[in-house]
Amino acid sequence: MPDFAVTLAAARAEIREGLRRTPPSISPKFFYDPVGSDLFEQITRTPEYYLTAAEIGILENNLEEIAAGIGPRAVLAEIAAGSARKARIVLGGLESPAAYAPVDIAEEMLAGQAADVRRDFPHLKVIPVAADFSRDFAFPAFDFDHSRIALFYAGSSLGNFEPAAAAAFLARLQRAAGAGSRLLLGVDRKKDPAVLNRAYNDPGGLNAAFNRNILNNVNRLADGDFDPEKWIPHQFYDEEKGRIELWLESAADQTVRAAGETLCFRAGDRLHTENSYKYDVDDVLTLAAPAWTPLHVWCDPAERFSVFLFAGRDTPPGGGAAATVE
Ligand code: AVI
Repeated sequence: MPDFAVTLAAARAEIREGLRRTPPSISPKFFYDPVGSDLFEQITRTPEYYLTAAEIGILENNLEEIAAGIGPRAVLAEIAAGSARKARIVLGGLESPAAYAPVDIAEEMLAGQAADVRRDFPHLKVIPVAADFSRDFAFPAFDFDHSRIALFYAGSSLGNFEPAAAAAFLARLQRAAGAGSRLLLGVDRKKDPAVLNRAYNDPGGLNAAFNRNILNNVNRLADGDFDPEKWIPHQFYDEEKGRIELWLESAADQTVRAAGETLCFRAGDRLHTENSYKYDVDDVLTLAAPAWTPLHVWCDPAERFSVFLFAGRDTPPGGGAAATVE
């Protein structure tokens, strides 16, 4: 996968570009070093972060219908796979799945996920794909018998794009997966702000630690000297914008070096690390419409979370072939 590996130079350039912005920002993709990935995994197991349990419940309760909509001999390609916990549920319901292909930026994560799936499904082909899926990417040629690629994009990670970028990403997924593909997509819904604020401010401080840990990764990737202890994490819901926002606030006047830049912060200055958009069902259908036809939508009983099954439209927007990486 030589073309798709995320190089250190590219990460450093992206970090520099973000830090130069007003307000400065760091892309949420840099949350996921091994510590960040582990913190996120712990967040998903807190009772406050209802998203994971709600999505798992939807998958388990509707597995037959989901499997019927995907069909036999599919390659299940999980985007931003994380722990593969949910993919294992889906794989358990699919008829004769042809392969599992986890796609992730965090190469360290891929080996672990592949091992977990191999343990549960010893006869299944597991084909890890290391890619920065925030840019165009292509799957390797699957030169074995299979019916289609079924993309699985779980956990409401779609919400971490700006809405226009989310629509472009969904179209890009369709181009990468090709005609006849499917997309199983889990998205968190708009709801009572108190519920959302609790989810991102767990009493154990895992969300705060996750937010702050991005600075450790920036230090590692871009020769930075951020002192995470000098940054106060904030996570809050902006109801008007329909999104959770994550920020780090400078606790003091300080000078930081990173990615070859010297940055001066005053106490109270803020650095943006993430938006997490929440979408009603119709919002998602609109975002997906140019590339995907809805086959089914399922919600949990409390209507906090939705899982969609889409079929790729025949003519993908932006051309038929999988785009190449710049
Ligand atoms: C990965 N992503 C969907 C999480 C979210 O809820 O937006 C990341 C996260 N940020 C803070 N807590 C969890």
